[in-house]
Amino acid sequence: MTTAHESPASEAQISVHWREEDYYQPPAKFIGQANATDPGIFRRFDEGHFPDCFKEYADLLSWDAYWHTTLDTSNPPFWRWFVGGRLNACYNCVDRHLAADRDKAALIWVPEPEAEPTRTITYQELYRQVNEFAALLREDCGLRTGDRVTFHLPMVPELPVAMLACARLGVIHSEVFGGFSGTACGERIADSGSRILVTTDGYYRNGQLVDHKAKADEAVRTANGLGQPVDKVLVWRRHAGQYASRAAMVDGRDFFVDELLAEHHRAVVEPVSMPAEAPLFLMYTSGTTARPKGCQHSTGGYLAYVAGTSKYYQDIHPDDTYWCCADIGWITGHSYIVYGPLALGTTSVVYEGAPTYPDAGRVWRIAERLGVNIFHTAPTTIRMLRKLGPHEPDNYDYHLKHMTTVGEPIEPEVWRWYHDVAGKGEAVVVDTWWQTENGGFLGSTLPALQAMKPGSCGPGVLGVYPVIYDEDGNTVEAGSGKAGNICIRNPWPGIFQTIWGQPDRFEQIYYAKYCRNPKSTDWRDWPYFAGDGAVQAADGYFRILGRVDDVINVAGHRLGTKELESASLTVDQVAEAAAVPVIDEIRGRAVEMYVSLKPGMAPTADVEHAVTAAIEREIGKIARPKNVWIVEDMPKTRSGKIMRRVIAGISNFADVGDVSTLANPEIVEEIRHHIQGEKLAHGEVPRQLTREEADEIRAFGRDA
Ligand code: WT7
Repeated sequence: MTTAHESPASEAQISVHWREEDYYQPPAKFIGQANATDPGIFRRFDEGHFPDCFKEYADLLSWDAYWHTTLDTSNPPFWRWFVGGRLNACYNCVDRHLAADRDKAALIWVPEPEAEPTRTITYQELYRQVNEFAALLREDCGLRTGDRVTFHLPMVPELPVAMLACARLGVIHSEVFGGFSGTACGERIADSGSRILVTTDGYYRNGQLVDHKAKADEAVRTANGLGQPVDKVLVWRRHAGQYASRAAMVDGRDFFVDELLAEHHRAVVEPVSMPAEAPLFLMYTSGTTARPKGCQHSTGGYLAYVAGTSKYYQDIHPDDTYWCCADIGWITGHSYIVYGPLALGTTSVVYEGAPTYPDAGRVWRIAERLGVNIFHTAPTTIRMLRKLGPHEPDNYDYHLKHMTTVGEPIEPEVWRWYHDVAGKGEAVVVDTWWQTENGGFLGSTLPALQAMKPGSCGPGVLGVYPVIYDEDGNTVEAGSGKAGNICIRNPWPGIFQTIWGQPDRFEQIYYAKYCRNPKSTDWRDWPYFAGDGAVQAADGYFRILGRVDDVINVAGHRLGTKELESASLTVDQVAEAAAVPVIDEIRGRAVEMYVSLKPGMAPTADVEHAVTAAIEREIGKIARPKNVWIVEDMPKTRSGKIMRRVIAGISNFADVGDVSTLANPEIVEEIRHHIQGEKLAHGEVPRQLTREEADEIRAFGRDA
């Protein structure tokens, strides 16, 4: 245990108060069937074998031409992997499985309405659909290798079909998360220079048929305003032949995909053999204040990396039924619903709707009915399932061998529920730390070979060598109890190639901070700055504390939001917690906690006191919250991250900023009314923030 106030000069140092958790060992049954059980694998991927170790991942793919250079570092930090190699990503995910597995389910699509039948798409059917859509893109839209096309699609099977069709042609796809607004979509259309938008009329979410096409008009208008004309809008129909949107089809611009496809029946499009370094897709990270960042991912390096990590970390075998309950509009879905699992020829489940619709048993019913044996989701979903149906898994006869958590730090309390209740104590839990920019996992445990530790993602994954630096670039030693900035010392095949159209910003954000010598072509001089705070235990496991800008500085003590939240979750009634800073005349900044409770729990003063007591006990009096607010729900992004900047805006009587990309924008006014009302009733006199203070509050937390 340490506090940072002895060295206030070090911005990166965050007080770390975590208790060390006990290890959990993988079940023998899991080890008995795992893909990686030979500890020799660690030696094969150690630094002495870098970068050639990644041949093992690349060899999981079928190449049209083998590469001559594993890693070209001549123009840092624009790394090039498997140079000279040629391949097609669609061929690798579809065609090559036909010979042995044409009748096997590639995708199982589960519509949200339970009465609607599940759709199984075999590899043969996927091949057919992808070819026909590729023909449409090429012939009706004139798309060619290197062009960009934007999708604004929800969780329907047409999304992976469209992705693979682009990959077949070497066209760069850019999927914008379906829940985003038309404006957000239009900005991304403009940034990527897409002339074609692929969308749908509607989809089911929480029992409603959402009118989605209406957003396309707004997107096209926004893109036009930014100087990017959109020639065609391709509209899939949720129910073929029936149009579910109230927005009119625009003559000459909008086309129903099912009608166009009739012209391409049984079309076959040869996969285009692409250079390994050709871009495969863009994935935007937001951006509500700055220009969005289009993370550009490569074909060969990316596909090799997601195939390798899917095999060893997800432990995917071809005969598994794998379900990643996340959105394909997020990098998690690109890598670990579509490209990784399909490259390995397994069965990947795609679920349309909300995990708790119509009730908290839905997820477990799907797992039981389909025989899912690998399950993958985010802490926010796990917390929600725990909140709404803490005993629900007991009612279903499913058996998981493997469970993943991804997207934010998971509180040990929640981890234990995931392992003991959701996983029935039978499954390994794999916590995977990474980012949109990274293509695939960076920190995790190799499930049969490394013990689990709740709340820690684990050490660096195979061939990835992380390090923690302080602000001056000194290494923060493992076991020192000190936190700092986690960086990756080396390039890896899944790393994004650049920010689309913004190479300087790419270098600036991710490499400038710790680059030892901008002239050097040695990768050792170019550590990758991830922007997360972390602490490394003596055993080498990393605990991610959250974004480095998600830190609350109370009287010189830098407190990580996640540990405040984790302490709050030790209170039995609490389901979710968010910590935000409030401007405080005495302490500079003080902490305010927002908590939501498990169903049936009364919002009493006792709960508020228990949260304060837990924070004092786990962290110390310095972290004592100024207020604990019990709220119904938190404002969240569609990928489930709590928007702390919005809550911080409310707590400080400041602007909450853009809330158009929230999953539940209506909650903002509700919380504002409730919390600001109570503050005023308690005699708080809001004052106008200075410009610096307002900027700080607005910048708090990273949007997803
Ligand atoms: C940020 C990235 C991970 C793919 C989804 C895209 C946080 C992510 C973990 C984890 C602790 C995590 C980090 C990271 N994060 N996974 N297992 N443990 N923190 O996510 O929107 O690009 O966000 O999510 O802060 O930087 P993203």
